[in-house]
Amino acid sequence: MKTETPVPLLDLKRQYAELRPELTAAAQRVMDSGVFVMGPEGAAFEAEFAAASGAARCVGVSSGAQALTVALEALGVGPGDAVAVPAFTFVATATAAVELGARPLLVDVSDDGLTMDPVDLERRLTPAVKAVMPVHLYGRAADMDPVMSLARSKGFKVVEDCAQSHHALYRGRPVGAIGDFGAFSFYPSKNLGALGDAGALTTQDAGLADLAASLRNCGRRPGTQYDHPRLGHNYRLDELQAAFLRVKLKRLSAWTEGRRRAAALYRQALAGLPLSLPAPDRPGDRQVYHVFCVRSDRRDALKAHLDGAGVKTAVYYPEPLHMLGALKGLGHKPGDFPCAERAAREVLALPMFPELTEPEVGRVADAVKGFFRG
Ligand SMILES: Cc1ncc(COP(=O)(O)O)c(C=O)c1O
Repeated sequence: MKTETPVPLLDLKRQYAELRPELTAAAQRVMDSGVFVMGPEGAAFEAEFAAASGAARCVGVSSGAQALTVALEALGVGPGDAVAVPAFTFVATATAAVELGARPLLVDVSDDGLTMDPVDLERRLTPAVKAVMPVHLYGRAADMDPVMSLARSKGFKVVEDCAQSHHALYRGRPVGAIGDFGAFSFYPSKNLGALGDAGALTTQDAGLADLAASLRNCGRRPGTQYDHPRLGHNYRLDELQAAFLRVKLKRLSAWTEGRRRAAALYRQALAGLPLSLPAPDRPGDRQVYHVFCVRSDRRDALKAHLDGAGVKTAVYYPEPLHMLGALKGLGHKPGDFPCAERAAREVLALPMFPELTEPEVGRVADAVKGFFRG
């Protein structure tokens, strides 16, 4: 009997097979240059990523987590401050505040898009909140208009967590170019992924960009060697990763289209089943499907069924932030963030990557249908 190969959740090797000659040439170029940190590749990537993201400036850093921390630090967040973050996200969103001695203030997500609920944000806001960090989860923009109008009336800063949303649009505007800063991750599995860890900040404000560039480079005044007007960190983006990212950035639009094509096929094939599909685009939106997440109150059984059918899936995230051991000190209890808690019980990410083929989407959809028929 012929057994079919599993449908992977994501497959980075397909992408690298196509890019190998260009990536090898990029690595060779850096090695031949003898410049490995803070050189021409990093500067060129920053200019190219800013242009591709609709931002005036980009500052490369060594991970998405560090992008979040540098953004908050540049905005003056420190001990005694609070930073509002959604209760349903990757833990790094909250870690950034803690690293600076600030306190994360958790906000529930809305039930449809699973992004920060602006109504709950307004309810929970305190005068200590210096910054708010909406997360564009799964590649779909958070509802930014109400957050930005609250920011104007209450005076807090906004850092968009864009780790999962390269090239996404919110009502016609690129994510990362709406708040004071956008923070991007280039972890290998992201929509734009390096060959290791990397990240970047985007901003429209040249003063904030210069400050962030100093903070990620040991507090140096940009362009100087031993002039330190402040203390900073070594959170630099290295030349090899910047050179790889320059190769891959050229493909990002095509890859985004590949993801959106696969998502459209899923939507067609899974319509009418008793499970929730990702929230649709708002007018002017472009979601970029970092993952394609369905929701079912029989999630664990569905996952087991798909695994048995050779379809790899994952749960992002099995616990909302207030249930993590690391954040018990915030003093929350089950029931405090009902939408985030329900999401953690129900979400299931199906295979999603730009090279996913139509027959593979068909196999996944057939397996999902088989579960609900059975
Ligand atoms: C929502 C979110 N924020 C922040 C990060 C942190 O990015 P990195 O892994 O590059 O530090 C990630 C990456 O997993 C993420 O998904």
